Amino acid sequence: MNVVILAAGKGTRMRSGLPKVLHPIGGMPMLGHVLRTAQSLKPKKIIVVIGHGADQVKAAMQMLPELSAPAPIDWVIQDPPQGTGHAVAQALPKLDPKSMVLILYGDVPLISRQTLQQLIDTAEKNRGLAVLTAMLDSPTGYGRIVRNAHQHIERIVEEKDADASIRSICEINTGFMAAPAENLAAWVSALDNHNAQKEFYLTDIIAKSVAQGNAVHALRRDSSEEILGVNSQEDRAQIERIYQRGIAQQLMSAGIRLQDPERIDVLGQLECAPDVAINIGCVFEGNVQIEAGAVIGPHCVIRNSRIGHDAVIEAFSHIDGATIGPKSVIGPYARLRAGTELAEGVHIGNFVEVKNSVLGPRSKANHLSYLGDASIGSRVNVGAGTITCNYDGAEKHRTIIEDDVFIGSDTQLVAPVTVGKGATLGAGTTLTQDAPENALTISRAQQVTIKNYRRPQKKEH
Ligand code: UD1
Ligand code: CA
Repeated sequence: MNVVILAAGKGTRMRSGLPKVLHPIGGMPMLGHVLRTAQSLKPKKIIVVIGHGADQVKAAMQMLPELSAPAPIDWVIQDPPQGTGHAVAQALPKLDPKSMVLILYGDVPLISRQTLQQLIDTAEKNRGLAVLTAMLDSPTGYGRIVRNAHQHIERIVEEKDADASIRSICEINTGFMAAPAENLAAWVSALDNHNAQKEFYLTDIIAKSVAQGNAVHALRRDSSEEILGVNSQEDRAQIERIYQRGIAQQLMSAGIRLQDPERIDVLGQLECAPDVAINIGCVFEGNVQIEAGAVIGPHCVIRNSRIGHDAVIEAFSHIDGATIGPKSVIGPYARLRAGTELAEGVHIGNFVEVKNSVLGPRSKANHLSYLGDASIGSRVNVGAGTITCNYDGAEKHRTIIEDDVFIGSDTQLVAPVTVGKGATLGAGTTLTQDAPENALTISRAQQVTIKNYRRPQKKEH
């Protein structure tokens, strides 16, 4: 089996500089979804017809290397695009002549592997053309399926070429077709562009097959979300929500408690163990793993991170490239950046930013701090307003804080600097040299009191 994916169209109705097939659904370009589904059918080859923004489209797909296996992807340029039939014509020289060909659309991202497999099976059983059709309450914009008195398919008429009686037909062409390569090549080479749009319509191959006495077989879906195509921003948003609903459904059937399945966005891969609870308005990006019993509060953004079992992430936390140990408590309003590694039972409170730092078991930084490039041991208490001064304007330096250290509030640690085991830093210290173990280190101007001090008074006029 060979797959041809049509993705050369400009997507004028998107009103965007980005090629249409690169607009994302669930954080991945639409074309990526189609390629992934195509690969799951294990074809011999995949041919993608590109035109508008060809280099950009190709580059974006090559950034998703898992999509180029197992079948190799052949890129074919259609310039300028002259219709779906013309697009398939560009792919003909690349097809294996004896194979079955499946035609997919770069702007119909939700189509399922199961439906496509059925379409291929239909074409194979009949050694002829099979078309996926659907019944829609509002068929406007789609090509209509015209059947004869015996209910056999005769032809497809595009909306722009249809009269009122044909427009009233509710069975539409989804665009998905399967046919033997040799037949497809013969029909496509014989297409003309004598129609309202002056385009070579792929849909005209139906009438060509019928004219040769070969029946066209329909696989009909009674209304279906998977066949919806994206032509406008409204369509994209509608399909995004359908996709997100599907993910929410999968999470719930795996035992995840979603406060509201309509208010979650997964833009990548979210893996959750059972008994994870996710509150409203959370966004998950890239690869996120959440272990059993973890609780995610409302309006958190979590990207490429791992959350340990029974951890609690309070509202409005932003977590990116971090590993969070079991039973840790984060936020509200925490920001964990790349290279943050928290062991078990760590507490990171409000307005604390952590970057490229390791915190050992049961260490705490509960308020208003910046911890960057720091190695922090176990049971360390970081007081409010503590800042690691990790950057000297040219280089980054590390701060090392050993086990059981107590850091008073409003301390600056000017890196590179080490605080020894069990040390205490007095509030307000600016630490520029290492602090020894088990001692109090403090840098602070002596406190003085001036008795009988009078504040300046306003002059009487
Ligand atoms: C097409 C079908 C219509 C069907 C609908 C389903 C034709 C003539 N019409 O209409 O019957 O109901 O899909 O969604 O086939 N493309 C190219 N090169 C081109 C033109 C288009 O690669 O020259 C690609 C586009 O990038 C897109 C796909 O083909 O991925 C469909 O093109 P589009 O212009 O959106 O066709 P529709 O008007 O939706
Ligand atoms: Ca379309």
